[in-house]
Amino acid sequence: MVNAQELTILWYNISMAIERLVEPTAAENDKEEERIEISLRPLSFAEYIGQEHLKNNLKLAIDAVKKRADGSTLDHVLLYGPPGLGKTTMAGVIAHELSASLRVTSGPAIERAGDLASILTNLKDGDVLFIDEIHRLRRAVEEVLYSAMEDYKLDIVIGKGPAARSVRLDLPHFTVIGATTRTGSLAGPLRDRFGIIHRLEYYKESEIEQIIMRTAKILGTTIRPDATELLATRSRLTPRIANRLFKRVRDYADVNGDGIIDTKIASDALALMEIDFLGLDPADRNMLRLMWENYGDRPVGLTTIAALTGDEATTIEDFYEPYLLQLGLLARTPKGRVVTEKGRRHLDKSGIL
Ligand SMILES: Nc1ncnc2c1ncn2[C@@H]1O[C@H](COP(=O)(O)OP(=O)(O)OP(=O)(O)O)[C@@H](O)[C@H]1O
Ligand SMILES: [Mg+2]
Repeated sequence: MVNAQELTILWYNISMAIERLVEPTAAENDKEEERIEISLRPLSFAEYIGQEHLKNNLKLAIDAVKKRADGSTLDHVLLYGPPGLGKTTMAGVIAHELSASLRVTSGPAIERAGDLASILTNLKDGDVLFIDEIHRLRRAVEEVLYSAMEDYKLDIVIGKGPAARSVRLDLPHFTVIGATTRTGSLAGPLRDRFGIIHRLEYYKESEIEQIIMRTAKILGTTIRPDATELLATRSRLTPRIANRLFKRVRDYADVNGDGIIDTKIASDALALMEIDFLGLDPADRNMLRLMWENYGDRPVGLTTIAALTGDEATTIEDFYEPYLLQLGLLARTPKGRVVTEKGRRHLDKSGIL
C-alpha cells in the first residue's frame, strides 16, 4: 500500500515526466533520460539548492498555514524567471512541504473555460494546482480563473439562448501555483490574484557546483572538485544546463576514460560540444555574429533577429536572450537589441570576427 504522500510524489513525478516530453527544451526524451531527470528533481526545501530568499519566504508562508490548521490555504504563488531555473521543481516542493496533492496543467493545455471548470471541480480542499506557462492561458479561461482564485466560486452558464441561466458553484479551497518565463505577458488582473510573487534568479556558481555534486552523487559518478568548478562556470548559472552538461560529460568519461570526471575529461567534452568559457554554445555565438555582421552596434528588432537565425522570436526571447543579457553581451533598447562592446569582444576572442 502507498500512503497519500507517496501517491502525491508518484503523481508529481509522472506529470513531470510527461511535461518534459512536450517541453521544447527537452532534447533528451528517451526513457533513460526521463528516469534520470526524475531522480534529479529535488522534492523538499532541504534538497532544493539556492534561491534562499524565495525558500525563506515560502517556508514562512507554509509554516503559517500549517500552524493555523483552520483549513486556510497557502496564498496563490506566481513564479517567474528564465527557463531551467527550477520553477516547476519548486511547485512540486511546495506541494510536498504542504503534504498536498498536486495537479499539473499548463496554459496552452486548457483550451476552453469548460476544461478549467472540470479541473477545478475535481480539486479537493488544500490541493495545489500548478499551471505552467500561465501567460498562455486563453482570455475566456483566464476570466473563469479570476473568480475561482479570488473567492473560490465558479460561474457557469447552463443552457443556450433565452433559457440560459448562470449558476455559481462553490469550489474547494485550493492554491494555484503559476509559472511563467515572462511576467510582462501576464494580464494585470490575473497577476493581482497572486499573493506571493517571486522571480527566480540565476544561481551563484557555488550553488551550481553543489547541484553538480548532488547530481554526481545520485548518478553514482565520481567528479573531481576542479572539474566540478569547470562545469559550473559553463552552465549559464542554470541547474537544467548544469545537469545536461554533466550527463554529456559523464557519457564522454565512460567512453574515453574510466568513468571518472577530471578536468581533462571535462574540458575535452566541453570542447567537443563547442561550449565556450562563458557557457555559450554555437547557436548563441551564431546569433551574436549574425547581429554584429549585419547591424554592427545598431539596434535590431526581435523579428529581424529571428529571421536572421531562423528561430521563432519567442525562442530567442525565452531561451537565448536572457543569459546573454545577464552577461552583458547583449543589451535591450527601446529600438531593439544591440550587441554590446563586451559582446563584440567575446566574438573576437572566440575567433569568429
Ligand atoms: N534548486 C535546485 N536544486 C537542484 N536541482 C534543481 C534546482 N532547480 C532546478 N533543478 C534541476 O533543474 C531542472 C530544471 O528545473 P525546472 O524544470 O524546475 O525549471 P523551470 O524553471 O520549470 O524551467 P521552464 O521554464 O523551462 O519550465 C530540474 O529537472 C531539476 O533537476
Ligand atoms: Mg517548468
